[in-house]
Amino acid sequence: MKLSLNDSAPRDIQTDCLVLGFAEGGELTPSARAIDEVSAGALTRMLQSGDIETGIGKTHFLHNVPGLKAPRILAVGFGKHDKLDLPRFDRACLAAGRALRDHPLTRCHVALHELEFAGADAGRRLRQAALAVHRANYLYTVTKPRKDDAPVPLQSASFQGGAALQGALDEAEAFALGFEKARILGDLPANICNPAYLAQEATAIAAQFANVSLEILEESDMSELGMDALLGVSRGSSNRARLIVLSYSGAAADQRPVALIGKGVTFDSGGLSLKSGENMMQMKYDMCGAAGVIGAFVACARMQLAVNVVCIVAAVENMPDGDAYRPGDVLTSMSGKTIEVLNTDAEGRLILCDALTFSERFDPEVVIDVATLTGACVVALGHHATGLMSNDDALAGELAAAGDAIVDRAWRLPLWEEYQSQLDSPFADMKNVGGMPAGVLTAGCFLSRFAEDQRWAHLDVAGSAWKWGGDDGATGRPVGLLAQFLLNRAG
Ligand code: BES
Ligand code: MN
Ligand code: ZN
Repeated sequence: MKLSLNDSAPRDIQTDCLVLGFAEGGELTPSARAIDEVSAGALTRMLQSGDIETGIGKTHFLHNVPGLKAPRILAVGFGKHDKLDLPRFDRACLAAGRALRDHPLTRCHVALHELEFAGADAGRRLRQAALAVHRANYLYTVTKPRKDDAPVPLQSASFQGGAALQGALDEAEAFALGFEKARILGDLPANICNPAYLAQEATAIAAQFANVSLEILEESDMSELGMDALLGVSRGSSNRARLIVLSYSGAAADQRPVALIGKGVTFDSGGLSLKSGENMMQMKYDMCGAAGVIGAFVACARMQLAVNVVCIVAAVENMPDGDAYRPGDVLTSMSGKTIEVLNTDAEGRLILCDALTFSERFDPEVVIDVATLTGACVVALGHHATGLMSNDDALAGELAAAGDAIVDRAWRLPLWEEYQSQLDSPFADMKNVGGMPAGVLTAGCFLSRFAEDQRWAHLDVAGSAWKWGGDDGATGRPVGLLAQFLLNRAG
C-alpha cells in the first residue's frame, strides 16, 4: 500500500474517500471546518442530528456531501476530546482502517492526525495514523489469493500535509514494512515456513541492503560450537535447524551493536511432551519472535538508522520422533551449564539459551530476546501487553518507553532471585521447567542465567504476536516497539 502526503484543500482532493476525525467536546479540525464551510454546514448538522457519532471507533460513510470532489467521507469518532491520548487515537485510527478495508474502495485521503491532544505532535499523530491504516489493510494472500467477495484492501492512502511531515511519513512506511514482513512470516504455515525458509528470507533481505551481511550456521557448525541445547530440540525433526545471523552496520564499526534474538520454532508440537490437538493448532506461530526481530531489522535497514544491529534467529522445529530428545535427558548448553529437560515442550528457552551465549561474540551493548515463550504470559497479560523482563532497569525503561511511543506496549514483570530456586535440579545445573507458579517468570529466570554478563531484556510475545480466530492472525508485534527502540538509540 502506497503512502503519500497531499496539502491541497480537502475539497479539491480527488480520492475515493476523505477520512475525517471527530471528537466529542472539541472543535472541528481544519479539514472538517473547511468541508463544513463548502457544504453549507452539512457536517455540523450531521453531528447535531447524531448521523455522525463521536464515540471512540465509530465510523460512518457520508455520501455526496456537496462541494467536494470526493464522492464520500468516512467520519471517525475519537470519543471525548479531553480523554484523547495516543492509545485511544491509535484504536480509532485502526477502526477507520478496517472500515476502509471492508468498503470496496482503493484510495483514500486521511486527515485524522489533525485532531490534537497532549503528548503527540503532528508528526507523531501522522505516523500513528498512517501505520494504523496500513496495518488494518493487511490481507494474507500467499496460500489464499483474494476472492471477489473478500475485503478490498486499500491500494494507496494520502495524508493531509506537506514536506514538514515527510520524515514522519517515511518512518510510518518503514515501520509498516517491518510489521508486514513479520505478519506474513507469522501467518505462513509451517510446511512452507520452516528453518530453511527463514534462512532464505534472510538471504533475500541481505541482498536488498548494501550494509547488511548474513551468516547462516548449519547444524554441523552449531555442533562444533557446542550448542547442544538448541540441537537437542531439533533432533526430532527432519527439518534441519539453522542459526541465522543478519548484521546491519549503520554506525562506526567500533560502536557496539544491539543484539536482537528471535525464537524461530517454526512448529512446536511439544515434542515427546506432545501438545493436545487443541493447543497444537496454532503452533505455526511459534516463530513470531523471529518474525518480530526480522521485521524490526528490515524497518531499521529501511530507515538506515545510525546504529549497529545483529539479528540472531534460532530456527528450529520441535517434533516427536525416535531420535527426539526425551523428558529426563540432560543437555549441555554452549555455556557449559547443564539442563535437565523435564518437559520437551519448554523448548523455546533451550534454543534461546544457546543463542544468548552465541551473541556474546558480538560484544553487544544490549541483548534483547523475543519469544512466544509461555502460555502463562497470555494468562498474565492477555493480548494487549508484551511481557518484559530484564536484568537492567535502564534498558527495561527504554524498551517500555519505546513501546508506549508507538502503542506497541510492554509491561515489566519481576525477575527476583527468589523465583530462581524453582529451577533447581538434582541432576543438572537447572531444569527447564519451574512448575505452575509464575510460569512466565521462571522462563525469564531460566534465560537470565545465560545473560549474567550482559545488559539483557526478554520480551514474551506469546499473547501479543498473534491472535487466534476470525479476523486475526499474526499482529507483527513487537516490530513497533523494537523499531522505535532502535530509532531512539540512533538519536
Ligand atoms: N510455544 C509455547 C508457548 C505458547 C503457548 C505460546 C501458547 C503461545 C500460546 C512454548 O514452547 C510452550 O509450550 N511453553 C509451555 C511451557 C511449559 C511446558 C513450562 C507452556 O507455556 O505451556
Ligand atoms: Mn513448547
Ligand atoms: Zn514453543
